[in-house]
Amino acid sequence: MYDRFNRKINYLRISVTDRCNLRCAYCMPADGINLIRHKDILSFEEILQVVETGVAYGIDKIRITGGEPLVRKGIVNLVAMIARVPGVKDLSMTTNGSLLDLFAVELAHAGLQRVNISLDTMDPGRYRRITRVGDLSSVISGIIAARVAGLTPIKINCVVQDSPMEADAMEVARFCRDNDLEVRFIKEMDLEKGKFSKVIGGEGGHCAKCNRLRLTADGRIKPCLFSDLEFSIRELGIEGAFKKAIGQKPHTGTGSKINKFSNIGG
Ligand code: 5AD
Ligand code: SF4
Repeated sequence: MYDRFNRKINYLRISVTDRCNLRCAYCMPADGINLIRHKDILSFEEILQVVETGVAYGIDKIRITGGEPLVRKGIVNLVAMIARVPGVKDLSMTTNGSLLDLFAVELAHAGLQRVNISLDTMDPGRYRRITRVGDLSSVISGIIAARVAGLTPIKINCVVQDSPMEADAMEVARFCRDNDLEVRFIKEMDLEKGKFSKVIGGEGGHCAKCNRLRLTADGRIKPCLFSDLEFSIRELGIEGAFKKAIGQKPHTGTGSKINKFSNIGG
């Protein structure tokens, strides 16, 4: 389906949980966020209905995000359910990678095609500082497991302060070159302050070509990361929410007071 600005909308990013096993400083306060209540989190059946309706509206590319999607109980089953929907051509996941060692093979069997993994530094101490609780070696194991399972091409998301020329970013770039991983750099954003940026080496943030919608873990379809527009599937029905989100997708984003990376998965 095309929006008002003749952009073909074919990409849906689905946040399956706002919970995460890490606490990245740029994503969450140290003591966590106001979590969505369990009863408000979409069931797998509801998510599947959104996917089916989305496909009818022209969605053929789906990315599963979080929070951290691998902390959602039964995530492999959800992947399998989505992978079976005819018309879903591209099925991927954005993950912090720390649990991939456990899940990569099962995910691949369930029909997941590829993963994007977050990695901002190759230094174990700084990795711990950035994520507050994370362990770099678990991510490296996760990357290896993803490769062995065939969840390729693997893309690495690296958040930078200002530029990909920073020391941490250059080391991540070298690691990626040496290990056949694609890397994209994302400048740290502050949505509330209107600080957002394009993904360097990726598609995100290029408004004129933006083909995406987002579904939050509690069932709101958002047409733009940098806007507070949202349409609840529970209030409007799934079709109603899709129609409004596509119909009102803004030309460019301006800023958001309510969007959080932890519930829309970037
Ligand atoms: N600015 C830029 N990127 C962010 N991410 C999380 N918070 C921010 C932020 N404030 C990124 C993560 C991950 C993706 C899901 O979003 O690094 O790669
Ligand atoms: Fe978790 Fe990703 Fe947020 Fe880090 S950026 S706290 S890994 S959801």
